[in-house]
Amino acid sequence: MNKQIILLPGDGIGKEIMESAKYVLNTVASEFGHRFTFHSHAIGGDAIDQYGTPLPDDTINACEQADAILLGAVGGKKWEALPGNIRPEQGLLGIRKKLGLFANLRPIQGFAPLLHASPLKEEVVNGSDILIIRELTGGLYFGKPSERIKDGKAVVDTLYYERSEMERIVEKAFESARLRRKHLTSVDKANVLESSRLWREVVNEKSKEYPDVTVEHMLVDAAAMKLITAPTQFDVIVTENLFGDILSDEASVLTGSLGMLPSASIRSDGVGLYEPVHGSAPDIAGKGIANPLGMILSAALMLRHSLQMEEEANEIEEAVRACLEQGYHTADLSVKNGKQVGTKEMTEAVVENITTKSVSDSICST
Ligand code: NAD
Ligand code: IPM
Ligand code: MN
Repeated sequence: MNKQIILLPGDGIGKEIMESAKYVLNTVASEFGHRFTFHSHAIGGDAIDQYGTPLPDDTINACEQADAILLGAVGGKKWEALPGNIRPEQGLLGIRKKLGLFANLRPIQGFAPLLHASPLKEEVVNGSDILIIRELTGGLYFGKPSERIKDGKAVVDTLYYERSEMERIVEKAFESARLRRKHLTSVDKANVLESSRLWREVVNEKSKEYPDVTVEHMLVDAAAMKLITAPTQFDVIVTENLFGDILSDEASVLTGSLGMLPSASIRSDGVGLYEPVHGSAPDIAGKGIANPLGMILSAALMLRHSLQMEEEANEIEEAVRACLEQGYHTADLSVKNGKQVGTKEMTEAVVENITTKSVSDSICST
């Protein structure tokens, strides 16, 4: 199968970890007899430097025709002083909106060898397995007006949601909960925000269609606390755009590092953009020490959700697990023993585990 994959490396460590994803995908392709054709396009600060815009038309057109899209990260100090509408982050928000990628799935699944790498107590983290479903194309991120007013003496951002936007993400969350442990926590701020009160109404209404899924409403401030004191009580969490952004970085602490978290940004027909949860990490960019696993695991999600390659996705996830069991880890993970390595060596270790496994599989089957 020849699949067209668009690569949007972006800025900072985005470029470094995209190399890792490519290497791993090429390995999977040769092990399984697939062909992945990669096309790189500019986004973010990189696109501003080359084309004067964070999201060139050429990038949008390529993404619209792709089988799947992988994104590294955007942003950095160099572009911080630019006006809001041409900042690198607008490239990312723009492509999510243009492609209608309203559902952002952020699985927070710890790997056993990293249990002690979390600053949280092992007994708190042990057994946690959460899927955060973040609404991605509405809310405060996109509402208009969003501007300085009254000669700069005041400012307005707008939290706007259509009921239908709430319905489709809540439905996605119920469907996902059904395939897991059938418990849905809806996170909002219904004690203050009207938008949250409508959100609750939508969740309650939808829940009638899913009697097998238990529903709990939780205020976002309490949810922030519960996520790191009692994470095992969560299965699927569904929430609006900004709350989901904040809670997922917080939840990454359960896994040992923000660098571990993958994500899938999808719409109903399965088209998707796959990106790690973290950003361009300007503090470590160019040093060759970035953790590539969030990116590599995003590539696995891409194979599973957009290319229907479940076995191949499992193979990558198993290889990541094997590496961690062998003690390989990057500097962001405070692992007591084992081998601290850089981005390239970590990627090599994953690749090595993929190829070793297929060699042993073929020996077993002969
Ligand atoms: P960040 O996620 O880039 O970094 C936060 C901290 O985590 C840093 O100390 C960083 O070194 C560390 N970190 C992140 N990913 C890592 C990895 N793979 N390996 C090792 N350490 C890692 O967040 P920030 O510093 O607040 O933002 C930097 C820039 O990234 C900003 O311009 C922001 O807008 C952008 N950003 C982009 C995305 C995205 O493209 N999806 C996501 C978040 C932030
Ligand atoms: C993320 C990022 C983005 C977001 C930024 C860079 C626009 O933090 O993907 O989590 O807030 O959605
Ligand atoms: Mn974020």
